Amino acid sequence: MKRCCWRWRVLLAACLGAALLLLVAATLSLLPESENGALGSGWLSGKRRNALQMLYNLDQGPSLALAEVHRQRRNLLRHACSHHTRRQRLLQPEDLRHVLVDDTHGLLYCYIPKVACTNWKRVLLAMSSLTSQDPQAIPAHEAHAPGRLPSLADFSPTEINWRLRDYLAFLFVREPFERLASAYQNKFKRPYSAAFQRHYGTRIVRRLRPHPHPDALARGHDVRFAEFLAYLLDPRTRRNEPFNEHWERAHALCHPCRLRYDVVGKFETLAEDAAFVLGLVGVPGLHFPAPPPRAKAATTHHQAMRLFQDISPFYQRRLFDLYKMDFLLFNYSTPSYLRLH
Ligand SMILES: *[C@@H]1O[C@H](CO)[C@@H](O)[C@H](O)[C@H]1NC(C)=O
Repeated sequence: MKRCCWRWRVLLAACLGAALLLLVAATLSLLPESENGALGSGWLSGKRRNALQMLYNLDQGPSLALAEVHRQRRNLLRHACSHHTRRQRLLQPEDLRHVLVDDTHGLLYCYIPKVACTNWKRVLLAMSSLTSQDPQAIPAHEAHAPGRLPSLADFSPTEINWRLRDYLAFLFVREPFERLASAYQNKFKRPYSAAFQRHYGTRIVRRLRPHPHPDALARGHDVRFAEFLAYLLDPRTRRNEPFNEHWERAHALCHPCRLRYDVVGKFETLAEDAAFVLGLVGVPGLHFPAPPPRAKAATTHHQAMRLFQDISPFYQRRLFDLYKMDFLLFNYSTPSYLRLH
């Protein structure tokens, strides 16, 4: 009897916590911008410079071209959210798995794979190390090692809520189809993603090919882009489990209509936007790693165009519908190479 009672209490507490989380997230998205900034006003009495307060000061001061760009992006996001989102389910701490926490600098970074997230993780690790460290010297596997950077999902609702209120939250997004093309190229084409091919490639081959070759069935190494897209559009795929993070929609990973993001960075202007964020954080001598030459915007645009040209208008349309929210929320225009009509 006693045991049962205890369980009920835990359940009740969990429900209350979840409701609280929803409440704060919803309130923040309704607050006008100036009030959002004012939430960090406790900073004035503190000694440490706070990134959120820096942003607020920038917005109050003489207009700075870059600060203005970011203000417009935030407004566009808020506007798009209010137009395109319907009733949403409760956010649970687990939904915030992708939001990484830097308590020293008061930062929340929601990582989206294929949008320079390795480099952002490197930068966060470098900032958190006591000895000054060059982000570029941190190996990728170390940057991605689970638990190296704390996630918001690891905290209690109360601890989550005050961080959501007081910290500078940012994310980096990318043109959705270029991100998708990059994920395909990286996970199904590259020779070093054998594990990925075995896990997802074999599934795709098994499901989509009537008479699969035993080798393809065992290795999943030769999945075509059209097959990958058919797998994404197959309702069974998401019924079984959520999309893998490499192709899950940015809005589903980061909940930009539920959480207040102060900076929306873009892969297309990565260097400037990263410098803007690091300027707000104010860590002297820390630079965002330069992207490799192959990440040039023209190249990834061309790659997406080439991959999509063999896809039927029917599939193009359905895929555009699947990723539409990411296009709308982050102001990406419909790719000109699509045949939607
Ligand atoms: C949205 O995109 C259009 C077209 O690319 C651009 O002219 C405009 O400045 C963008 N708006 C914002 C707020 O980024």
